[in-house]
Amino acid sequence: MIQRIIQDLQHKFKNDPMRLTHIMGVYETATKLALHHKIDPFKVQIASLYHDYTKNDKIETQTALLTPDEVALYKDYPVMYHALSAEHLLQKNHHILDEEIIQAIRHHIWGRPKMSSVEMIVFIADYAEPNRTFIDATALYELACMSLEKATLRCMEITLNNLKEQGANPHPEQLEAYHYYKEVTRGET
Ligand SMILES: [Fe+2]
Ligand SMILES: [Fe+2]
Repeated sequence: MIQRIIQDLQHKFKNDPMRLTHIMGVYETATKLALHHKIDPFKVQIASLYHDYTKNDKIETQTALLTPDEVALYKDYPVMYHALSAEHLLQKNHHILDEEIIQAIRHHIWGRPKMSSVEMIVFIADYAEPNRTFIDATALYELACMSLEKATLRCMEITLNNLKEQGANPHPEQLEAYHYYKEVTRGET
């Protein structure tokens, strides 16, 4: 199944090699982190490969895959549509109903409180893959080897700081997730 999805991605992103490189970087980083933390890598591999599957699709193509409630819930935060549509498409195309895989795709943008290790690994790998240049991906990877919770908090801080610089407001779900990880790590990153 993994090879079939990779071939599909190579075809889908043939005109966007940077996106494909990012996805493969997340896949490889998530695999390494799973093995480091002695977790079966299969779930993080599927979720990593699919997390940005619909990222380049038109917004109407993304929302066509969602329920009306999902469209309404994130109408001011359309970035969420690519996560939700990818999750639905994985279920549709590959009949994957595994809750951890689904949640890892759904929450790869903001995270959520009490994520499983699979979810945290995919969430962190999206930032810690080696092609990311706006952050120190190596330091983040090393932090994730020590503590998935602390690395999760670090990723959330990076996103919140970026939003602040842009003058944009975080979604309440994003703040809720951030406060949860701040609490469980006592703010230590
Ligand atoms: Fe994404
Ligand atoms: Fe991504």
